[in-house]
Amino acid sequence: MELKNSQTFKNLAKSYAGECQAHVRYKFIEYGARQQGYKTLAEMIDNLVYNEFNHARMFYTFIQQASDETIDNIDISAGYPFKEKWDLVENLRLAAEDEGMEENVIYPEYRKIAEKEGFTEIAKLYDDIIQVESCHRKLLTDLYNQLSEGTLYKKQTKVKWKCADCGYEAVGYEPWDECPLCKAKRGSVMLHLE
Ligand SMILES: [Fe+2]
Ligand SMILES: [Fe+2]
Repeated sequence: MELKNSQTFKNLAKSYAGECQAHVRYKFIEYGARQQGYKTLAEMIDNLVYNEFNHARMFYTFIQQASDETIDNIDISAGYPFKEKWDLVENLRLAAEDEGMEENVIYPEYRKIAEKEGFTEIAKLYDDIIQVESCHRKLLTDLYNQLSEGTLYKKQTKVKWKCADCGYEAVGYEPWDECPLCKAKRGSVMLHLE
């Protein structure tokens, strides 16, 4: 089967659209986190933004390999989430949910179809991306839990806190409000993830 006549071709286009939207939705979250002073958290989200860009880039690359001709249009019909409002904590939870959908529902289905249609390389791409989306889900869930439970900057035991801006370190239940060395705000403290 030729890729451009396959269901996989359409699925690649849907996946590309989904990754582009995830990229922008996480940029919304990153923007919100930065506005609220969560600098290191924003940088973590920015890393996800870049991951989604690269997923989109890989889907796009496979689409382009289907034809030497210019692809004027791919007609797709698909639904995408528009759940997020401008609430940082809630958006982390929703983003984790979106990742779970890609990881457990959408991409496994596209993977299965790619394999059935004989596109092994594309099935492998889905496998690899599923792995990453699973890590994204776990990271977003962890950040959501810590923020909603108030444990982002408050631990049960003493831990080492480190300022991402200047490297200053101190041990305690909580980090500083203002870094004793460089005066950076608490938002610059490096986060402890699960
Ligand atoms: Fe992705
Ligand atoms: Fe993701």
